[in-house]
Order: sequence, then structure tokens, then C-alpha cells
Amino acid sequence: MFICSKCQKEYTKWSGKCENCQSWNTIIESESTLFKGTKNKKKDSKIVEIYLNNLEKNTLLTTSEIKTGILEFDNTLGGRLVPGQVILLAGSPGIGKSTLTLQLINSLSEQGKKILYLCGEESPLQIKDRAIRIKLALKNVTFVAETNVNAIEKYIASNNSKFNFIVVDSIQTLYSENAAGARGSVSQISECANIITSLSKGYNISTLIIGHITKSGDIAGPMILEHMVDTVLLFEGDKRGELRILRVEKNRFGPTDEVGIFKMELTGLKEVTDSRELLEKQVNLNGVVYCIVIEGNRPLLVEVQALCVKSYFTNPRRTSVGFDLNRLFLILAVIEKKLKISTGETDVYVNITGGIKISDPALDLAVLKAIVSSIKNSPIPSDSVYFGEIGLGGEIRKVYLEEKRIKEAKKLGFKNIISSKKTNDIQKML
Ligand code: TYD
Ligand code: MG
Repeated sequence: MFICSKCQKEYTKWSGKCENCQSWNTIIESESTLFKGTKNKKKDSKIVEIYLNNLEKNTLLTTSEIKTGILEFDNTLGGRLVPGQVILLAGSPGIGKSTLTLQLINSLSEQGKKILYLCGEESPLQIKDRAIRIKLALKNVTFVAETNVNAIEKYIASNNSKFNFIVVDSIQTLYSENAAGARGSVSQISECANIITSLSKGYNISTLIIGHITKSGDIAGPMILEHMVDTVLLFEGDKRGELRILRVEKNRFGPTDEVGIFKMELTGLKEVTDSRELLEKQVNLNGVVYCIVIEGNRPLLVEVQALCVKSYFTNPRRTSVGFDLNRLFLILAVIEKKLKISTGETDVYVNITGGIKISDPALDLAVLKAIVSSIKNSPIPSDSVYFGEIGLGGEIRKVYLEEKRIKEAKKLGFKNIISSKKTNDIQKML
């Protein structure tokens, strides 16, 4: 059988061009992917089970002290994990996918679940080092340092009753004898993911597949992985910052509007229930405004910063990190027209701290306030919070879940809550 490595269309004979996606030289020879490891041409690789307890070096493994983190994960999944569910945990390299996974399986293992961890990224010894650092015992976890998916398939087939949960870290490190291309190529990823998914469904074992995403934000192995799995989770954040957000991109077994919020600390990921923890303690600074945004269904406190300086460019600079640049243009136009403040010779920099991208329109008002504060050099009391969408007429518009945001702001101790409920006239809130 032949298959297009780009769009997965199947053909009975080879051709140079794929009729479906019009790509050239993407058709490769492949076999049916379902449990084909039985037809092994090459000699089987030897599978070695590794238990962290048996590894030498450091024997300081203690029982886990971490009880948080997992709740955020469960909530994100809609409260439960379904047997046979295949979850893709995607995120850029170094964001904390393996750390989150280790904490998750540690909790599962404490409940007596037995876990198979396929480690292609790091050696079991490296994992052990990390487990010690973040104080995870990882009792019922079998580590297998094997990346040949055909060998893994055989291993799971004969040991399936030993496991309740499988982790693949990462799908990009696996390879199949029956697929073309290098590890991490589209054909390899789709073939390997197919086999893992079939195993998971066939034996009713839930599986977590870790996948790196490319700089442009695609899950490597374009789209194909997303279609194969039941649930796609995206782990996001700025590696330099500590905030991490776990988002649901797709979920066959639950809602997609939940988010999990974590903080990366030296001792692993910590669950964040109070978003004040994420902010630096600052008092009354120019251009610094607090805002309550909604992520999924949850209110989240963020800090918006604006810096406005005299421009030495013919076209003044407008830079925005974490906030939509087009909305920034819109807000500047409203400032110019409705507030009669000229920004034509001012460079404007806007930043949402913590390295998160927010698309909630409620940020408009906070961004506007931060810009005006920076231009006028007038600090904003740190007990104030601003949220609201700005219309082209300069009006403050009601935002989604406004009452929930107000409640959260009060809970967080803000005294001065400015939103459309207080006024819809931006002149009045200045
Ligand atoms: P990791 O889970 O290895 O990322 P991924 O699997 O997504 O590639 O996390 C890597 C980063 O996390 C690493 O740069 C260091 C940081 N880190 C901490 O800050 N604290 C910790 O306790 C751990 C385990 C990692
Ligand atoms: Mg990793």
C-alpha cells in the first residue's frame, strides 16, 4: 500500500503527485498500520524494564509530598480520564511537559495504578535525577528506554495486563521499521502514533503521548496527530517566566473550555488557584494596570504594562507582547480621537507580564489605561483593576462573565473595580 505522507491519502500504486493535496514526491510505501508488528522483518530489539528503585546513584527516593498539580489536570480534562483515552500533550521543548507528566503518573501510581513510561527523550537515570529533585517516588512505574515502535508493540501486547497507563515521551523520538523517513518525520510520526493509538484502544489502556510543537505553534506532524487522538492538550507559557497554562484544544470526552494553571518552580509544577501569586508586588507604577481576564471559564488576574516614549522614528514604533497588535492600533485611535491625546510622535510598547498571550477583549480597557498612565506619568493605585472592551465610538462595552470577574476582583482585594458596570464612558474613568 502507498500513502501520502502529507495528507495521508492511501493509494494502491505509487505515483509522483498526490491527487488529494497536490504535493509532489510525498507518496511513500506503507503497510496497513494495525498491529502489523507481527510481520517483523528485522530481529526484535531487546526490551529492558527499568525500575528507578533499582538504579544506582542516589537512593534518596521518598514518598511524594506533591498533592497539587494533578487536580488542575483533571479539571482540564473535564474531571476524569476515560480508559483507552489517548491524550496528546503538546508544547514547545522545555516548557515542562515531562515534568507535568511525571507528577501526574506519580499521583496515579500512588493510587495503585501501574504505569509504563516509554522514554525516548531522556535516560531513566536522568528521569530519576529529576524525580528526586521534585520528590516523586514513582513507585509503580516501569521505564522502558526503547524507541522502536514495533518492539514496543510486541512488548505491550505481551505485558498489557501489567499496565493501566502508558506514557510516550515523546512521539518524535519513536520510529517504525515499516515507515519511511527519519524520526520525527510526518510518515514516522503518523505510523508510530497509529500503532500507539491502536494499542491503547485495543487493550483499553489510557495513553498520554507527548509531542513537541514547532516554533510556529504547529504540532509537528501537521494535523495528523490531532485527528488520531481523543484529546489534545496544549501546554503553554514563556519559558523565561513561571506561568504555564494547560489548554484543551480538542476533547472527545469532555468540555474544551477548561484550563489548568500552573507555576514552574524549582521543585516542579505547582497548582495555581490564586492568580495573585503570579504577580510581582508593585505599588502605584506608571503604566502598570491590573486586569481580570477569562481563560476557559476561569477568571485570571494579569498585569498589563505600557511604556510610551518620544519616538525618533519616522513611523513611531508600536510593539505588543501577549496582546493583539491590531487591537493596540484601535485603542491608539480611540485615545487620539476621543481622549484628544496625541500619540503620533510616541513609541508605544505593551506587554502582558508572565509571558502569556491573551485574546480576551476585556484587556482593551486595561491597555488603554496603561498607555494613558504612561503618557501622562500618572501612576495607577495598585488596588485598582480595569476590564472592558473598547468600541470604536470610545465606549466601554460589557464583557463576557462580567459579574464573575467583579466577584474575583473583590475576592482578590481590589477596591476600585472599573468596568462597563461602573461607567461606559472612557472619559469618566480617566
Ligand atoms: P521539561 O519537563 O523537561 O520540559 P519538556 O518535557 O516540555 O521539554 O522541563 C524543562 C524545564 O523546566 C527545564 O528547563 C527546567 C525547568 N524545571 C524547573 O524549573 N523546575 C523543575 O522542578 C523542573 C523539573 C524543571
Ligand atoms: Mg521532555
